[in-house]
Amino acid sequence: MSATITSIGIYHPEKEIRNSYFESYLDTSDQWIKERTGIERRFYTAPNEYTSDMCVKAAQNLSKEYNKDLHDVDYIIVATSTPDQPMPSVASQIQSRLNIPNAGTIDISSACAGFVNGIILAKGLIAAGTHKKILVIGADALSKVTDFIDRTTCILFGDGAGAIIVEKSDNNTLFNTITGTNGDYGKDLYLAYQDASISNTKVIANNKLHQNGRVVYKWAVQTLTNGLQELAMKNNTKLEDIDYFIPHSANYRLLEAVFNELNIPMNKCLDSVRMFGNTSAASIPLAWYNAIKEGKLKLNDKVMLVGFGGGFTYAGILIENNCV
Ligand code: UT7
Repeated sequence: MSATITSIGIYHPEKEIRNSYFESYLDTSDQWIKERTGIERRFYTAPNEYTSDMCVKAAQNLSKEYNKDLHDVDYIIVATSTPDQPMPSVASQIQSRLNIPNAGTIDISSACAGFVNGIILAKGLIAAGTHKKILVIGADALSKVTDFIDRTTCILFGDGAGAIIVEKSDNNTLFNTITGTNGDYGKDLYLAYQDASISNTKVIANNKLHQNGRVVYKWAVQTLTNGLQELAMKNNTKLEDIDYFIPHSANYRLLEAVFNELNIPMNKCLDSVRMFGNTSAASIPLAWYNAIKEGKLKLNDKVMLVGFGGGFTYAGILIENNCV
Protein backbone atom coordinates (compact mmCIF):
# COMPACT_ATOMS: atom_id res chain seq x y z
CA MET A 1 0.00 0.00 0.00
CA SER A 2 1.50 3.35 -1.07
CA ALA A 3 1.63 6.54 1.00
CA THR A 4 2.47 10.20 0.52
CA ILE A 5 2.72 13.39 2.56
CA THR A 6 0.05 15.78 1.31
CA SER A 7 0.37 18.86 3.54
CA ILE A 8 2.53 20.60 6.12
CA GLY A 9 2.00 23.35 8.69
CA ILE A 10 4.15 24.85 11.41
CA TYR A 11 3.88 27.06 14.45
CA HIS A 12 6.39 28.91 16.59
CA PRO A 13 5.62 30.96 19.69
CA GLU A 14 5.64 34.77 19.55
CA LYS A 15 8.38 35.52 22.04
CA GLU A 16 11.67 35.89 20.17
CA ILE A 17 14.93 35.49 22.10
CA ARG A 18 18.10 36.87 20.49
CA ASN A 19 21.59 35.78 21.56
CA SER A 20 22.04 39.13 23.32
CA TYR A 21 19.56 37.94 25.98
CA PHE A 22 22.15 35.40 27.23
CA GLU A 23 24.93 38.00 27.11
CA SER A 24 22.90 39.98 29.62
CA TYR A 25 23.37 37.46 32.48
CA LEU A 26 25.88 34.76 31.41
CA ASP A 27 29.56 34.57 30.49
CA THR A 28 28.83 34.10 26.77
CA SER A 29 28.62 36.17 23.59
CA ASP A 30 26.60 36.49 20.41
CA GLN A 31 29.84 35.76 18.55
CA TRP A 32 30.53 32.50 20.44
CA ILE A 33 26.97 31.27 19.94
CA LYS A 34 26.96 32.09 16.21
CA GLU A 35 30.43 30.65 15.55
CA ARG A 36 29.91 27.41 17.52
CA THR A 37 26.27 26.73 16.66
CA GLY A 38 25.03 29.09 13.92
CA ILE A 39 22.09 30.08 16.13
CA GLU A 40 20.88 33.70 15.86
CA ARG A 41 17.54 33.50 17.62
CA ARG A 42 14.92 31.13 19.01
CA PHE A 43 11.30 31.40 20.23
CA TYR A 44 9.92 30.58 23.69
CA THR A 45 6.42 29.57 24.68
CA ALA A 46 4.54 31.85 27.07
CA PRO A 47 4.23 30.59 30.68
CA ASN A 48 0.70 29.29 29.99
CA GLU A 49 1.50 27.89 26.53
CA TYR A 50 2.42 24.20 26.19
CA THR A 51 3.39 21.61 23.58
CA SER A 52 -0.27 20.71 22.92
CA ASP A 53 -1.07 24.38 22.18
CA MET A 54 1.69 24.50 19.58
CA CYS A 55 0.51 21.20 18.06
CA VAL A 56 -3.06 22.49 17.69
CA LYS A 57 -1.84 25.65 15.96
CA ALA A 58 0.50 23.79 13.60
CA ALA A 59 -2.33 21.42 12.59
CA GLN A 60 -4.77 24.31 12.16
CA ASN A 61 -2.22 26.18 10.01
CA LEU A 62 -1.80 23.04 7.88
CA SER A 63 -5.56 22.72 7.51
CA LYS A 64 -5.96 26.38 6.49
CA GLU A 65 -3.06 26.51 4.03
CA TYR A 66 -3.77 23.22 2.30
CA ASN A 67 -7.55 23.35 2.69
CA LYS A 68 -7.35 19.98 4.47
CA ASP A 69 -10.27 18.47 6.32
CA LEU A 70 -8.92 16.91 9.52
CA HIS A 71 -12.16 15.21 10.59
CA ASP A 72 -11.38 11.96 8.81
CA VAL A 73 -7.88 11.64 10.28
CA ASP A 74 -7.80 8.08 11.67
CA TYR A 75 -4.58 8.19 13.70
CA ILE A 76 -2.59 10.92 15.45
CA ILE A 77 1.10 10.56 16.27
CA VAL A 78 2.82 13.26 18.33
CA ALA A 79 6.60 13.07 18.66
CA THR A 80 7.78 15.02 21.69
CA SER A 81 10.12 14.90 24.68
CA THR A 82 8.18 17.67 26.39
CA PRO A 83 4.55 16.51 26.63
CA ASP A 84 2.29 18.74 28.75
CA GLN A 85 2.14 15.74 31.11
CA PRO A 86 2.99 12.01 30.82
CA MET A 87 -0.74 11.08 30.73
CA PRO A 88 -3.02 11.77 28.93
CA SER A 89 -0.96 11.89 25.79
CA VAL A 90 -0.63 15.12 23.83
CA ALA A 91 -2.08 13.26 20.82
CA SER A 92 -5.30 12.51 22.73
CA GLN A 93 -5.67 16.21 23.57
CA ILE A 94 -5.17 17.10 19.90
CA GLN A 95 -7.98 14.65 18.98
CA SER A 96 -10.29 16.45 21.39
CA ARG A 97 -9.29 20.02 20.57
CA LEU A 98 -9.48 19.51 16.80
CA ASN A 99 -12.83 17.66 17.10
CA ILE A 100 -11.54 14.63 15.25
CA PRO A 101 -14.30 12.09 15.94
CA ASN A 102 -12.50 8.77 15.89
CA ALA A 103 -8.74 8.52 15.77
CA GLY A 104 -6.16 6.32 17.43
CA THR A 105 -3.63 8.40 19.35
CA ILE A 106 -0.08 7.94 20.55
CA ASP A 107 2.85 10.05 21.74
CA ILE A 108 6.29 8.80 20.79
CA SER A 109 9.49 9.55 22.65
CA SER A 110 12.60 9.45 20.52
CA ALA A 111 13.89 12.98 21.03
CA CYS A 112 15.20 14.67 17.88
CA ALA A 113 14.56 11.51 15.84
CA GLY A 114 10.86 11.62 16.81
CA PHE A 115 9.42 13.32 13.76
CA VAL A 116 11.08 10.92 11.31
CA ASN A 117 10.07 7.95 13.48
CA GLY A 118 6.51 9.32 13.30
CA ILE A 119 6.64 9.26 9.49
CA ILE A 120 8.08 5.73 9.51
CA LEU A 121 5.29 4.49 11.83
CA ALA A 122 2.60 6.24 9.76
CA LYS A 123 4.03 4.68 6.59
CA GLY A 124 3.86 1.26 8.30
CA LEU A 125 0.23 1.68 9.43
CA ILE A 126 -0.79 2.64 5.91
CA ALA A 127 1.22 -0.23 4.41
CA ALA A 128 -0.55 -2.62 6.82
CA GLY A 129 -3.86 -1.40 5.42
CA THR A 130 -5.27 -0.48 8.84
CA HIS A 131 -5.22 3.34 8.47
CA LYS A 132 -5.60 5.86 5.65
CA LYS A 133 -4.97 9.39 6.90
CA ILE A 134 -2.51 10.07 9.70
CA LEU A 135 -1.62 13.35 11.39
CA VAL A 136 2.04 13.34 12.44
CA ILE A 137 3.31 16.20 14.60
CA GLY A 138 6.81 16.91 15.88
CA ALA A 139 6.71 19.43 18.73
CA ASP A 140 8.85 20.46 21.67
CA ALA A 141 8.77 23.19 24.28
CA LEU A 142 12.39 22.86 25.38
CA SER A 143 12.42 26.26 27.08
CA LYS A 144 10.26 24.63 29.80
CA VAL A 145 13.08 22.19 30.65
CA THR A 146 16.10 24.38 30.00
CA ASP A 147 18.61 24.98 32.79
CA PHE A 148 19.10 28.71 32.31
CA ILE A 149 22.29 28.87 34.35
CA ASP A 150 24.07 26.19 32.28
CA ARG A 151 25.69 28.15 29.46
CA THR A 152 26.62 25.00 27.57
CA THR A 153 22.95 24.08 26.97
CA CYS A 154 20.67 27.06 27.56
CA ILE A 155 21.80 28.95 24.47
CA LEU A 156 20.87 26.04 22.21
CA PHE A 157 17.19 25.32 22.59
CA GLY A 158 13.95 26.76 21.24
CA ASP A 159 10.25 25.88 20.99
CA GLY A 160 8.14 25.00 17.95
CA ALA A 161 5.89 22.50 16.18
CA GLY A 162 5.45 21.05 12.70
CA ALA A 163 2.54 18.94 11.43
CA ILE A 164 2.08 16.82 8.32
CA ILE A 165 -0.61 14.54 6.91
CA VAL A 166 0.53 11.13 5.71
CA GLU A 167 -2.09 9.58 3.42
CA LYS A 168 -2.76 6.42 1.47
CA SER A 169 -2.05 7.19 -2.18
CA ASP A 170 -1.63 5.56 -5.59
CA ASN A 171 1.63 7.44 -5.92
CA ASN A 172 4.18 6.29 -3.33
CA THR A 173 6.59 9.04 -2.21
CA LEU A 174 7.88 7.47 1.02
CA PHE A 175 10.84 5.21 0.30
CA ASN A 176 13.30 3.13 2.33
CA THR A 177 14.33 4.02 5.86
CA ILE A 178 17.15 3.63 8.37
CA THR A 179 16.90 3.37 12.17
CA GLY A 180 19.35 2.64 14.96
CA THR A 181 20.16 3.20 18.63
CA ASN A 182 23.05 2.97 21.09
CA GLY A 183 21.42 3.16 24.52
CA ASP A 184 24.80 3.16 26.27
CA TYR A 185 24.88 6.88 25.56
CA GLY A 186 21.58 7.59 27.35
CA LYS A 187 23.42 9.33 30.18
CA ASP A 188 25.00 11.87 27.80
CA LEU A 189 21.74 13.55 26.81
CA TYR A 190 18.80 13.25 29.16
CA LEU A 191 15.84 14.83 30.88
CA ALA A 192 15.11 13.02 34.14
CA TYR A 193 12.34 13.70 36.65
CA GLN A 194 12.93 10.83 39.07
CA ASP A 195 15.89 9.13 40.62
CA ALA A 196 16.29 6.21 38.22
CA SER A 197 19.68 5.53 36.68
CA ILE A 198 20.31 5.91 32.96
CA SER A 199 22.81 3.61 31.22
CA ASN A 200 23.75 2.32 34.71
CA THR A 201 24.66 5.84 35.79
CA LYS A 202 23.07 8.04 38.45
CA VAL A 203 21.86 11.24 36.84
CA ILE A 204 20.55 14.61 38.00
CA ALA A 205 16.77 14.27 38.26
CA ASN A 206 15.65 17.89 38.17
CA ASN A 207 13.46 17.86 35.04
CA LYS A 208 16.06 19.88 33.13
CA LEU A 209 17.83 18.90 29.96
CA HIS A 210 21.45 17.78 30.44
CA GLN A 211 23.87 17.29 27.58
CA ASN A 212 27.49 16.26 27.29
CA GLY A 213 27.94 18.42 24.17
CA ARG A 214 31.29 17.09 22.97
CA VAL A 215 30.19 13.44 23.22
CA VAL A 216 26.93 14.12 21.39
CA TYR A 217 28.73 16.19 18.76
CA LYS A 218 31.22 13.43 17.96
CA TRP A 219 28.53 10.74 17.80
CA ALA A 220 26.22 12.96 15.73
CA VAL A 221 28.86 13.78 13.09
CA GLN A 222 29.71 10.10 12.69
CA THR A 223 26.09 8.93 12.76
CA LEU A 224 24.80 11.50 10.28
CA THR A 225 27.75 10.93 7.92
CA ASN A 226 27.24 7.16 7.95
CA GLY A 227 23.44 7.45 8.03
CA LEU A 228 23.18 9.53 4.85
CA GLN A 229 25.43 7.05 3.01
CA GLU A 230 23.45 4.07 4.33
CA LEU A 231 20.17 5.72 3.35
CA ALA A 232 21.47 6.30 -0.20
CA MET A 233 22.58 2.67 -0.40
CA LYS A 234 19.27 1.34 0.90
CA ASN A 235 17.46 3.35 -1.76
CA ASN A 236 19.84 2.31 -4.50
CA THR A 237 20.75 5.93 -5.21
CA LYS A 238 23.71 8.29 -4.85
CA LEU A 239 23.99 11.29 -2.56
CA GLU A 240 24.65 13.54 -5.57
CA ASP A 241 21.24 12.56 -6.99
CA ILE A 242 19.41 13.86 -3.90
CA ASP A 243 17.97 17.38 -4.31
CA TYR A 244 17.86 18.36 -0.62
CA PHE A 245 18.76 17.07 2.81
CA ILE A 246 16.89 17.94 5.99
CA PRO A 247 18.92 16.66 8.93
CA HIS A 248 17.88 17.44 12.49
CA SER A 249 18.94 21.05 13.15
CA ALA A 250 21.10 20.70 16.27
CA ASN A 251 24.06 22.85 15.29
CA TYR A 252 24.98 24.41 11.94
CA ARG A 253 28.72 23.80 12.46
CA LEU A 254 27.99 20.10 13.00
CA LEU A 255 26.00 19.99 9.74
CA GLU A 256 28.86 21.75 7.89
CA ALA A 257 31.32 19.14 9.19
CA VAL A 258 29.14 16.30 7.84
CA PHE A 259 28.39 17.92 4.49
CA ASN A 260 32.07 18.82 3.93
CA GLU A 261 33.05 15.23 4.70
CA LEU A 262 30.51 13.96 2.15
CA ASN A 263 31.31 16.67 -0.44
CA ILE A 264 27.71 17.87 -0.49
CA PRO A 265 27.28 21.63 -1.04
CA MET A 266 25.69 23.40 1.94
CA ASN A 267 22.97 24.92 -0.28
CA LYS A 268 21.46 21.41 -0.39
CA CYS A 269 21.19 21.32 3.40
CA LEU A 270 17.93 22.79 4.69
CA ASP A 271 18.20 23.86 8.33
CA SER A 272 16.09 25.61 10.94
CA VAL A 273 18.78 25.98 13.61
CA ARG A 274 19.92 29.50 12.72
CA MET A 275 16.41 30.96 12.97
CA PHE A 276 14.78 28.72 15.62
CA GLY A 277 17.63 27.14 17.65
CA ASN A 278 17.51 23.41 18.36
CA THR A 279 13.77 22.59 18.51
CA SER A 280 14.25 18.79 18.76
CA ALA A 281 11.26 16.98 17.19
CA ALA A 282 10.11 20.19 15.45
CA SER A 283 13.38 21.06 13.72
CA ILE A 284 12.86 19.02 10.53
CA PRO A 285 9.30 20.20 9.70
CA LEU A 286 10.30 23.83 10.48
CA ALA A 287 13.16 23.62 7.96
CA TRP A 288 10.98 21.79 5.42
CA TYR A 289 8.12 24.30 5.58
CA ASN A 290 10.42 27.31 5.35
CA ALA A 291 12.23 25.86 2.33
CA ILE A 292 8.87 25.53 0.57
CA LYS A 293 8.02 29.16 1.44
CA GLU A 294 11.42 30.36 0.22
CA GLY A 295 10.78 28.62 -3.11
CA LYS A 296 13.76 26.28 -2.69
CA LEU A 297 11.95 22.98 -2.28
CA LYS A 298 9.88 22.02 -5.34
CA LEU A 299 7.32 19.37 -6.17
CA ASN A 300 8.89 15.91 -6.67
CA ASP A 301 12.27 16.93 -5.24
CA LYS A 302 14.05 13.95 -3.69
CA VAL A 303 14.73 14.72 -0.03
CA MET A 304 16.49 12.83 2.76
CA LEU A 305 15.22 13.44 6.30
CA VAL A 306 17.43 12.25 9.17
CA GLY A 307 16.74 12.84 12.87
CA PHE A 308 19.29 12.03 15.61
CA GLY A 309 19.52 12.69 19.33
CA GLY A 310 18.85 11.54 22.89
CA GLY A 311 19.00 7.77 23.26
CA PHE A 312 21.30 8.04 21.38
CA THR A 313 19.04 7.16 18.49
CA TYR A 314 18.54 8.06 14.83
CA ALA A 315 15.99 7.59 12.05
CA GLY A 316 16.03 8.52 8.38
CA ILE A 317 13.84 8.26 5.30
CA LEU A 318 14.05 9.17 1.63
CA ILE A 319 10.94 10.96 0.35
CA GLU A 320 9.75 12.77 -2.73
CA ASN A 321 8.34 16.16 -1.79
CA ASN A 322 4.64 16.40 -2.49
CA CYS A 323 3.97 19.65 -0.58
CA VAL A 324 4.22 23.02 -2.31
O1 UT7 B 1 19.67 17.76 19.47
C1 UT7 B 1 20.30 16.63 19.94
C2 UT7 B 1 21.67 16.47 19.42
N1 UT7 B 1 22.51 17.50 19.96
C3 UT7 B 1 23.62 17.82 19.34
O2 UT7 B 1 23.91 17.29 18.29
C4 UT7 B 1 24.54 18.84 20.01
C5 UT7 B 1 25.98 18.49 19.79
N2 UT7 B 1 26.92 19.36 20.48
C6 UT7 B 1 27.10 20.67 20.17
O3 UT7 B 1 26.36 21.24 19.38
C7 UT7 B 1 28.30 21.37 20.75
O4 UT7 B 1 29.09 20.44 21.45
C8 UT7 B 1 27.96 22.57 21.70
C9 UT7 B 1 27.37 23.71 20.89
C10 UT7 B 1 26.99 22.10 22.76
C11 UT7 B 1 29.25 23.06 22.36
O5 UT7 B 1 30.17 23.47 21.36
P1 UT7 B 1 31.67 22.94 21.39
O6 UT7 B 1 32.38 23.62 20.31
O7 UT7 B 1 31.62 21.43 21.39
O8 UT7 B 1 32.19 23.51 22.75
P2 UT7 B 1 32.90 22.70 23.92
O9 UT7 B 1 31.89 21.98 24.74
O10 UT7 B 1 34.06 21.94 23.36
O11 UT7 B 1 33.47 23.93 24.77
C12 UT7 B 1 34.49 24.79 24.27
C13 UT7 B 1 34.68 25.93 25.26
C14 UT7 B 1 34.73 25.45 26.72
O12 UT7 B 1 35.67 26.23 27.41
P3 UT7 B 1 37.14 25.67 27.72
O13 UT7 B 1 36.94 24.40 28.50
O14 UT7 B 1 37.75 25.40 26.36
O15 UT7 B 1 37.77 26.78 28.46
C15 UT7 B 1 33.34 25.75 27.24
O16 UT7 B 1 33.32 25.97 28.61
O17 UT7 B 1 33.56 26.82 25.18
C16 UT7 B 1 33.03 27.03 26.49
N3 UT7 B 1 31.59 27.28 26.36
C17 UT7 B 1 31.09 28.50 26.16
N4 UT7 B 1 31.68 29.69 26.02
C18 UT7 B 1 30.90 30.76 25.81
C19 UT7 B 1 30.57 26.38 26.41
N5 UT7 B 1 29.41 27.01 26.25
C20 UT7 B 1 29.70 28.32 26.09
C21 UT7 B 1 28.92 29.47 25.87
N6 UT7 B 1 29.54 30.65 25.72
N7 UT7 B 1 27.56 29.41 25.79
